[in-house]
Amino acid sequence: MMAGTSQTAHWSSRWTFIMAAVGSAVGLGNIWKFPYEAGQGGGGAFVLIYLFFVFVIGTPVLVAELSLGRRGQKSPIGSMAKIAKEEGRSPLWSLIGWSGVLGAVIVLSFYSVIGGWTLSYMFDAFAGTFSGMDAAAAGAHFGGLLTNEYAVIGWHAAFMGLTMFIVARGVEGGLEKAVTYLMPALFALLIGLAIYSSIAGDLAATVDFLFKPDFSKLTFDVMLQALGQSFFSLSLALGSIMTYGAYMTRDVNIGKSAVIIASADTGVAIMAGMMIFPIVFAYGLVPGQGPGLIFATLPIAFGQMSGGAFIGGAFFFLLVVAAITSSISLLEPSVSYITEKTGANRRKVALMIGGFIFTMGILSGLSQGDNPVADISIFGRSILDAKDFLTNNIMMPIGGMFSAIFVGWFVSRKNMMEELAMEDGTFRIWYFLVRFICPVAIGAVFVSIIYNTVTG
Ligand code: PHE
Repeated sequence: MMAGTSQTAHWSSRWTFIMAAVGSAVGLGNIWKFPYEAGQGGGGAFVLIYLFFVFVIGTPVLVAELSLGRRGQKSPIGSMAKIAKEEGRSPLWSLIGWSGVLGAVIVLSFYSVIGGWTLSYMFDAFAGTFSGMDAAAAGAHFGGLLTNEYAVIGWHAAFMGLTMFIVARGVEGGLEKAVTYLMPALFALLIGLAIYSSIAGDLAATVDFLFKPDFSKLTFDVMLQALGQSFFSLSLALGSIMTYGAYMTRDVNIGKSAVIIASADTGVAIMAGMMIFPIVFAYGLVPGQGPGLIFATLPIAFGQMSGGAFIGGAFFFLLVVAAITSSISLLEPSVSYITEKTGANRRKVALMIGGFIFTMGILSGLSQGDNPVADISIFGRSILDAKDFLTNNIMMPIGGMFSAIFVGWFVSRKNMMEELAMEDGTFRIWYFLVRFICPVAIGAVFVSIIYNTVTG
């Protein structure tokens, strides 16, 4: 074992920690969700408010969660319980850990379904399936996948299987190895595809679209969406960052790492936009049509461009890689908690929890498209969308708010200073943000929403 006296495994270098954390942050959220949410939320206006949330609210919370993890050296539940005890606070604070671990289980149960779609699309693209498809055919192809129970469940199983395989091999042998190979591949592909798309597609329209704000589209709903998305994209409040923080050695600087992680994550989201929209505009497709942007819209372009099978295949491979390095960080919190609690063998635990999450995910998978399960409606949402709404718009902001409050008001200032080892001025700014601005801003967005819903 490396640092300290604990039994926790550790990243073998600062660099591998950063890659793992960026791998967790960069995922379907950046490449699938961010572009279509920006598309629906008024382009530049959404991007601006998103940037504000990432750097003023999300990054301070990221620092808070990394330090809670490193201080605790345990699973999120164990770390929260331990720190609350050390600080003489109520054991109820461990609820932050619970909410994170359970939230990650819920998210992974539908994240893996979408990961499965991307796997299926990767093979389709390389096989040239999209060649010559028009909008109707591409829509029908996506619909066809969603209504094919065997395909949906099979691909979901394949994606979950890959995730379990990596997590079963442990921090150093599994997670770290995976990110060391996959992250460089991801960056190379992303840069290559963005360059291709800027040259071959309509860059001017994209820049206009992504950076010229249309504030009339900036409703309260869009703001809540942007807040939820910033947390989701930074992997906050689901125990992932806290768990990865626990594997960090004491010599890593948390503040600097957090800024690198947040910048890389945001950079990738914007690059994803720069990769997708030039193609969308060049082929006269609709930018604001929502979740189908990647699956029902882009294939039309891949089917028309020369070399589209290769470009499309590379694009979906990129998506698979981004998704896998995130899904392992969604499985790790519960696996770390159960192994810590029971002392059971990690392989068995990864298999059992992964199997459970896979089973939970089946209904989410069947809740899309033209399936009978799609008729089940929870507050007007399909099962998958309801899970997404519950975690993204409720559990994550509340969880993030309480970790900011805990660190800002319930852990001693001296201990935080020691954990962060920041320069005085930087520490003061961070401390101010985490004590006042984060809780108030997150709270205000909620109150506005409630007010807005009540007064219609
Ligand atoms: N950040 C990941 C993404 O953008 C998703 C994720 C959220 C992963 C929370 C871990 C924890 O796709």
